[in-house]
Amino acid sequence: MSFKQRIGTVGLGLMGSSIATCILAAGHEVTSLVKEQNEAAPARARVLGFLMELHAEGMLKELPEAVAQRITITADVAELAGHEIVIESITEDVEAKKTVYNALEMVLSPTAIIGSNTSAIPVSVLQDGLQHPERLLGIHWAEPAHITRFMEVICGKDSELKYAEQIVKLAESWGKEPSLLRKDIRGFITNRIMYAMLREAFNLVENGYATVEDVDRSLRNDLGYWITFAGPFRFMDLTGIPAYLTVMKDLFPDLDNRQTAPEMMEKLVASGARGVSNAQGFYPYNKESAEAWEKAFIEFSYDIRKLAEKYPQE
Ligand SMILES: NC(=O)c1ccc[n+]([C@@H]2O[C@H](COP(=O)([O-])OP(=O)(O)OC[C@H]3O[C@@H](n4cnc5c(N)ncnc54)[C@H](O)[C@@H]3O)[C@@H](O)[C@H]2O)c1
Repeated sequence: MSFKQRIGTVGLGLMGSSIATCILAAGHEVTSLVKEQNEAAPARARVLGFLMELHAEGMLKELPEAVAQRITITADVAELAGHEIVIESITEDVEAKKTVYNALEMVLSPTAIIGSNTSAIPVSVLQDGLQHPERLLGIHWAEPAHITRFMEVICGKDSELKYAEQIVKLAESWGKEPSLLRKDIRGFITNRIMYAMLREAFNLVENGYATVEDVDRSLRNDLGYWITFAGPFRFMDLTGIPAYLTVMKDLFPDLDNRQTAPEMMEKLVASGARGVSNAQGFYPYNKESAEAWEKAFIEFSYDIRKLAEKYPQE
């Protein structure tokens, strides 16, 4: 195997663990910074479990136990000294993230890239006050990061494009198909578009046009059927462009554009619902059915990745 640089990560929660797994499986050594050393053993077990999954799916040739040996888990930031790429995936909190970057800047070289897996904090906000803001990028992964091919590499107001391009190239060697966002915008690409869709989905349900089940069924069988294959612009090419213009002129003025969160969502969250993780959501669950949905989603994630790989973008 050719030489692969050692990559640093910060945070080994849900996403940090799958991110570390992806990078390890791609052949790198990884140093992961955690808050407390007692997080190391459970995190190591999680990563090993993901590696075993990848191996069972035929996506990892090496033995999972041997690959897991390549991760060092530490609570000492000084162990990240000398790393040229560090990917942060800690709690979604501006101040917590900035505290980590300040600590990283004390030990990293000025040209080391710091990537943040933030879902929604503008990268430009995270850059404020850094000594070298030009090396901070958004590196936005999708869960489970060791299976999905999604990645958005986002430039904040001070980011240097060359760093973003370097990450795009590297991530391709990790089996990702990254998109580059040259200017910071709230929600980046996919969340921005998904939330526009969610707003309309709540509009239909709250105003009695369709049930939650009917909205889900319709989108699953239309959008869900083609979106992994094509993306919206290719889909318009495939299905004839002019009709879309006609519909846009009619439909755009009719779409929901409210500024506030849906009442239905406020109530659900206030009732304590977190989804399958606590078996309370838009649908009824018990412990067993919630676990079955989680398991099926992982199986589907592997299946859809394998299917998508049969139909390359280019
Ligand atoms: N969960 C998702 O589907 C998803 C998708 C895309 C992006 N993200 C983003 O990824 C980040 C992490 O999300 P998550 O779902 O893994 O959350 P999580 O709560 O599962 O994990 C966060 C981890 O960060 C650790 N942490 C907190 N402060 C730390 C510090 N100073 N040093 C080291 N570790 C620290 C916590 O102990 C915890 O293990 C967030 O910014 C989130 O918005 C999550």
